[in-house]
Amino acid sequence: MLTSASPLPTPRMLWAFLLLATSGSAQSRDWDSPSCTKDVVSVFRGKPAVMACSITNPFSHINISLRTYHGESWQLVFSVNAPGNFRQDGWQLWVQGGEAHLVIEKAQDTQAGQYRWSLVGLQRNFKTTTLNVSGPEMLVPNLRPDPEDKSQAQVVLPVLALVALSVLLVCLLAWCRRSGSPKFSRLRQ
Ligand SMILES: *[C@@H]1O[C@H](CO)[C@@H](O)[C@H](O)[C@H]1NC(C)=O
Ligand SMILES: *[C@@H]1O[C@H](CO)[C@@H](O)[C@H](O)[C@H]1NC(C)=O
Repeated sequence: MLTSASPLPTPRMLWAFLLLATSGSAQSRDWDSPSCTKDVVSVFRGKPAVMACSITNPFSHINISLRTYHGESWQLVFSVNAPGNFRQDGWQLWVQGGEAHLVIEKAQDTQAGQYRWSLVGLQRNFKTTTLNVSGPEMLVPNLRPDPEDKSQAQVVLPVLALVALSVLLVCLLAWCRRSGSPKFSRLRQ
């Protein structure tokens, strides 16, 4: 049988090549072709941040790991089956069809760094996005000492007044005893 095969491509072989070529192009239409937020997302501390990834097919699974600027290892933030909305500490992940949004309502320093996305649609792809958290200190910690000071003053002032009053009372008693000692002695007699 093998010997009967001619060295030149037979029409049947050409047909097979054609089939291969067309199925190849059909497959290429099914590539996930992932694309993610390319630029570094820079936000002020305490402000919202959004990073996104999309693929041309619906998501079936997404993993997101974070490596902070100070940490060496990747820490798994999300491992979810799509679609759905998910919440984990300060992170939210919204997945709908081929769209995925990683939402941070109030960005913290501990959330800054590289996010590695494992995107599963018809294939599995890895992408990385970056979040920078910078800018002025949040106003809340700066304001916090003030109410504490006030509440401390509210406690300390009456105590001080009480101490002053009792010192005054002791002095008064001592003075009374000294100046009124004849009276006391007279009363005792
Ligand atoms: C997602 O993370 C889980 C837990 O680490 C792991 O078992 C799984 O293989 C990961 N999936 C992908 C597609 O990376
Ligand atoms: C992001 O933060 C890192 C570390 O703080 C810094 O080196 C880098 O220049 C920042 N990038 C941008 C685009 O702000």
